[in-house]
Amino acid sequence: MKICVSSGKGGVGKTSIVVNLAYCLAEKGKKVLVVDGDLGLANVDVLLGISATKTISDVMDRGADPLEALIRPSDNLAILPASSGAPDMVTLGPEEQERLGGYLDNVSSHFDVLLADTAAGIGPSVLWFNGFVDRSIVVMSSDPTSLTDAYALMKVLKTDYELERFYVIMNLVRSEEQARKAFKTVADAGKRFLSLDLEYLGWVLQDMAVPEAVRKQKPFVLTAPNAPATQCIWKLAQTILDWKQ
Ligand SMILES: Nc1ncnc2c1ncn2[C@@H]1O[C@H](COP(=O)(O)OP(=O)(O)O)[C@@H](O)[C@H]1O
Ligand SMILES: [Mg+2]
Repeated sequence: MKICVSSGKGGVGKTSIVVNLAYCLAEKGKKVLVVDGDLGLANVDVLLGISATKTISDVMDRGADPLEALIRPSDNLAILPASSGAPDMVTLGPEEQERLGGYLDNVSSHFDVLLADTAAGIGPSVLWFNGFVDRSIVVMSSDPTSLTDAYALMKVLKTDYELERFYVIMNLVRSEEQARKAFKTVADAGKRFLSLDLEYLGWVLQDMAVPEAVRKQKPFVLTAPNAPATQCIWKLAQTILDWKQ
């Protein structure tokens, strides 16, 4: 199953959610490949405290073996890192897009789940990843600017790629109630004006354990196993495992 996580607005928790969700899915026995799809401003390696020797750029530009570029922080989990400050990777031309898709299909055939983190905004790489995967997750916070940007992203994806179904994670919320209320606002507007089919995947509480783990460059599900945000991620992982393939 190929999944990507995007948000429109930056800083709403895409990379944190991808990294921690990946750990939980791996812990539950799935072989998980995390692709750092933020091709120009890589973050996944930073959040995991790992340093990439080879990246997607090496695979794309210099023909490196994609399997060789993988970093394996634990059993069942592999990371395909991107490189920071590689502007040529940000805007993918049609040929590069096709090659990237070929590589990713090849590598992901060794895994149960491909989970791609994407860049902020609605640039070509974000749109491409959403077109490439089987399921699109959109992360938003209840902040009006986040809701607006997520809505704008889904609008473009509907117009350009005819995507209608999005799985929504509400992050940085104070309560489940707040998450559901914010979700309903977006889902209702999406349905009414764009015929979007938004599905509520779950929520992640605002939790100091998240930035603390970022500073330690470790997943918060490991550094704070009992934290409220950790419990939310485990729940999300189970929901994803319950998806019909
Ligand atoms: N649930 C949360 N509770 C508290 N802080 C969070 C939460 N999710 C993300 N953050 C913080 O928000 C910032 C941005 O998160 P990040 O995952 O890098 O977002 P993105 O990848 O969307 O830019 C980080 O400093 C992170 O610690
Ligand atoms: Mg990020």
